[in-house]
Amino acid sequence: MNETGWNVRNVALGSAKYPYYYGYDCADRIAHVLGSYDADRFLVVTDDTVLQTHGEGFLRELARSAPVEILSRPAGEEMKSLVTLEAHLEQAVRAGASRRSVVVAFGGGVPGNLGGLLAALLFRGVRLAHVPTTTVAAMDSTLSLKQAVNSRQGKNHFGTYHRPEAILTDVQFLQTLPARELRSGLSEATKNCLAIRPRSIPELRDRITQGQLHSPGTLQWLLEVSLDAKAFAMSKDTKEQGPGLVLEYGHTVGHAVELCDQRLRRSRGISHGEAVAFGMIAAARVSARLGGLDADGVALHEELVGALGAPLRVPQGLRLADIMAVVRADNKRGYLALQDHETAMVLLSAPGAPMGEPRNPLVAVDLAVVEDVLTDLLEHDAPPWPTQETPTNGVLHR
Ligand SMILES: NC(=O)c1ccc[n+]([C@@H]2O[C@H](COP(=O)([O-])OP(=O)(O)OC[C@H]3O[C@@H](n4cnc5c(N)ncnc54)[C@H](O)[C@@H]3O)[C@@H](O)[C@H]2O)c1
Ligand SMILES: [Zn+2]
Repeated sequence: MNETGWNVRNVALGSAKYPYYYGYDCADRIAHVLGSYDADRFLVVTDDTVLQTHGEGFLRELARSAPVEILSRPAGEEMKSLVTLEAHLEQAVRAGASRRSVVVAFGGGVPGNLGGLLAALLFRGVRLAHVPTTTVAAMDSTLSLKQAVNSRQGKNHFGTYHRPEAILTDVQFLQTLPARELRSGLSEATKNCLAIRPRSIPELRDRITQGQLHSPGTLQWLLEVSLDAKAFAMSKDTKEQGPGLVLEYGHTVGHAVELCDQRLRRSRGISHGEAVAFGMIAAARVSARLGGLDADGVALHEELVGALGAPLRVPQGLRLADIMAVVRADNKRGYLALQDHETAMVLLSAPGAPMGEPRNPLVAVDLAVVEDVLTDLLEHDAPPWPTQETPTNGVLHR
């Protein structure tokens, strides 16, 4: 790793290949690479927060190569709509966009998805570059070809697949993220280490306990672990429907807890990453019940999730029946022939070793087993398991 320099890796999603450039304090180099695309215009899809926080220097650099058209709205999921998409498309055409224009999706997963779909639709497809500024965008959403906006009924209902020319990340952009956001990214990295890359666990443990989440070194390390895991899981599985499903570790119970908690506490509740961290605790215990993980494997989960400051128990106020209702309806059902009383989960027989087949790492699990495990994990019951103290520090805990 080159901490302050400029690095490049190749991302391969099936036959789709593109470079991932990253470094620290490298906005000018990012603008330089984009300048080499010989665009007649940059269509920068962003949100007002990102624009105010990081736009000035970067867009000034970008404008040296071609005129910049800014397509921005107040930040938030509401921006991911057909209404905004249409307005942006019309603005782009009015501004003189052509097939030689390049869409620059600058921001988190929301501008990323919106910009991606805009690039796919404009003149039946123009070039797209991602300049991510959140952990979700830098480590997750841009490493997928999926581009979508929401319908009035639900998330990501209208979309398509579109390959970017490149992803270009200045880790310095991530330093202005709230600690909660970074912890969420670290939770996903923990998932990647446990499910895919166990050899990174010692370093993960050090990074978590040092608590220097905002340091360039930790942010870059986080990025590299995520790139490794994604590359491994998705090289033969562009659409995340086969071996890539291992990335869903912790997500069955995690999504259910996230959704129930959001209904109760709205945005004040648990983050996606924290919910996934708790989902891994549940998955580890289910794995153990089904003859997979041994006690050390389960204890390792508890140690890492505890150190992250994510919940080791079902968050207070959530009802078991509500969580189970979401688990029952989980959308991974379609990937496995299941009975009514079963759900599909990624389980581990050891860190880095999924219990399912390599082609499809999902395992059919009796819902009664999941319910039993969650009953053990209800806040009012159980003492923490294992009982030893988990490391704490000022940064990782609220
Ligand atoms: N495969 C995929 O395409 C995929 C995968 C995961 C998530 N997603 C999508 O990504 C979206 C969530 O992404 P997100 O969490 O990045 O949301 P987001 O883009 O809304 O960003 C979250 C907030 O962080 C702010 N922000 C962005 N960069 C910042 C910075 N550097 N410093 C301070 N604040 C900053 C934004 O203004 C916003 O308020 C969802 O719509 C989800 O569906 C897609
Ligand atoms: Zn996730």
